[in-house]
Parts: sequence; C-alpha cells; structure tokens
Amino acid sequence: MKRYPRQLSAGENNIVIALNQLEVAKIYEGDTRSDIGSEAEKLQFANSINGLVAKFIRIDFDEEKQWEMLVMKRLFPMDFRSMEFERRELIFNVFEDELAQLHKAGFAHRDICRPSIMAGESYDNIFLTASGLRLIDVGISTLQRQVGGPIFERFVEQELKEISEFKEFFLNR
Ligand SMILES: Nc1ncnc2c1ncn2[C@@H]1O[C@H](COP(=O)(O)OP(=O)(O)O)[C@@H](O)[C@H]1O
Ligand SMILES: [Mg+2]
Repeated sequence: MKRYPRQLSAGENNIVIALNQLEVAKIYEGDTRSDIGSEAEKLQFANSINGLVAKFIRIDFDEEKQWEMLVMKRLFPMDFRSMEFERRELIFNVFEDELAQLHKAGFAHRDICRPSIMAGESYDNIFLTASGLRLIDVGISTLQRQVGGPIFERFVEQELKEISEFKEFFLNR
C-alpha cells in the first residue's frame, strides 16, 4: 500500500497528512471527485455556529507535489475508555446540544456512523478530546440551503438515530 510522508490515515476518499503539531491537511490530488471548495465552505459554515467541527484554517497549494490542501486544526483524540463515565455523560450532553445547534442552523453532518459495509470503524469521524467531542470529515455533510427543507429534515432524523446509538457505545465502551 502506498503511503505518503507524514500520513495520518487514508479515509474513504482522501489522504490526510500532518503538517506540524498544530495542523493537518486533507489532500486533493489530480482529478478528484470530491470538491475542496465545497468541503471548505461546509467547514466554515459549521465553525461559524460553534466549535463542534474541526477548525478550518486555510486552503493551500503545494507547488512541489502539485496538490491542493484543505488545512485544519490538528486534533489529538483520546480513547473513550480513558475518561470517567460521569465526565463522558456530561460531554455527551454538550455534544448533543452542539449538534442540535448545527441542525437548527441548517447543517447536517451525515457521516456520524458509517454503514458497516463501508471501510473504516463505525465512529471514526468522532474524536474525543480533553475538551469534548469533536467531529471531522464534512465530506458528505449537507447544508439545508442546498437541498431544501424536506430532504434536510430526513437527514436530521437519520442523524438523531445514529446519535442515540452512538450514546450507547460511547457511555458503555
Ligand atoms: N483535524 C484532524 N486532526 C487529526 N487527524 C485528522 C483530522 N482530520 C482528519 N484526520 C485523520 O484523517 C482521517 C481521514 O480524514 P477524513 O476527513 O475522515 O477523510 P475521509 O473522507 O477520507 O474519511 C481521519 O480518520 C483521521 O485519522
Ligand atoms: Mg472519515
């Protein structure tokens, strides 16, 4: 398997590399189907509402490598089991509130739990950090203004189901 220098992980679509201790970059190389501009816009939208989604920093181009980079704040997740149950409960409640805020503002993440037929662990887009749960990967996230009310409502409904399943997993892990 091909690996890039400083690669963190290869997700479903893109490679993510560490730039330094503070920043990571999602790489868009050649003729990618996924659109860096759209992903950046969705990140910035969510960032303007609250701190739940990883912070957008900038879009950059690596002249030498000839690839586009979506630069974000680097997160260092902890294992769920390293945190006391009581604290996890508090943290989950904040997570639920922040996600509800995003829904209300017209942002649905849509990749909280991958269907089991897809590669990757079920909850690999949710990071536990010392200051709370954070979401990464807005690749398939949707803004209400792009799809309209009825479709958006269905996405939110599905997301709420996934969140209640995640709660079981997170608290009992
Ligand atoms: N902000 C970040 N901080 C640390 N690691 C990250 C960050 N964003 C992504 N990663 C790492 O890169 C992987 C793939 O990123 P992701 O945005 O989920 O892309 P994909 O659409 O390919 O799943 C993640 O599972 C994680 O290991
Ligand atoms: Mg992912």
